[in-house]
Amino acid sequence: MTAVPVIELADVTKIYPLASGDVVALDHLSIRIDKGEFVAIMGPSGSGKSTLLNQIGGLDVPTSGILRITGKNIRQMSDEELTNLRLNAIGYIFQKFNLIPLLSAYENVEYPFILKHRCNDDTGRVSQLLAGVGINRRMAEHKPAELSGGQQQRVAIARALVNDPDILLCDEPTGNLDTKTGAQIMEMLTALHNQGRTVIIVTHDPSVGAQAERIIRIKDGKVEEP
Ligand SMILES: Nc1ncnc2c1ncn2[C@@H]1O[C@H](COP(=O)(O)OP(=O)(O)OP(=O)(O)O)[C@@H](O)[C@H]1O
Ligand SMILES: [Mg+2]
Repeated sequence: MTAVPVIELADVTKIYPLASGDVVALDHLSIRIDKGEFVAIMGPSGSGKSTLLNQIGGLDVPTSGILRITGKNIRQMSDEELTNLRLNAIGYIFQKFNLIPLLSAYENVEYPFILKHRCNDDTGRVSQLLAGVGINRRMAEHKPAELSGGQQQRVAIARALVNDPDILLCDEPTGNLDTKTGAQIMEMLTALHNQGRTVIIVTHDPSVGAQAERIIRIKDGKVEEP
């Protein structure tokens, strides 16, 4: 099968201008990730991993260089195309879950569905996804603060999947979890990869990185060659 690139960065630099001086978070970085790959991004704290994931997900735009997502230059996308990309093509799982505190677990998962379809879910998809990640009906009525870290992470995975994205981006998906819950989350991500999705995870944990097919190491905003 020919490899199809879904993420391409060519000579990408990201600078955060601060009063105290510019921070070069990504420094002339070039990376290609193909459709269906399972990639771990590893590197020390502050090396630019989250910044990289934000560019890959179209949440932020590079200062210079070229970024293509599913073959399209991000700078040439209209607002509508960008919104569509963020809502439908890419699922995000954030380190701190980023669930909406006032909504129940069910409502959190349903939220991107409503944004996409402009109506409530009458297909049963939200309930199915929650059941699939081991959140039962009773738990689904709880607010995020009434759930454990592992349960919140599983709700966040269900939410990331509700619009059936081809690409999953996960920032330290096991970072706040105990070993056993972390292993369950990794099993879920591996299963999603086996279904053909492109899965990209940022992790500090070598045992988590080892479960990916490929590791991209970054340091000081640059790719470290193996
Ligand atoms: N919004 C921002 N404004 C200014 N500087 C930032 C911003 N976000 C990140 N940085 C800086 O950019 C660099 C890379 O940060 P980033 O969050 O990408 O690192 P990281 O590899 O994800 O670290 P960690 O493992 O601790 O999460 C750091 O020096 C950080 O201080
Ligand atoms: Mg980070």
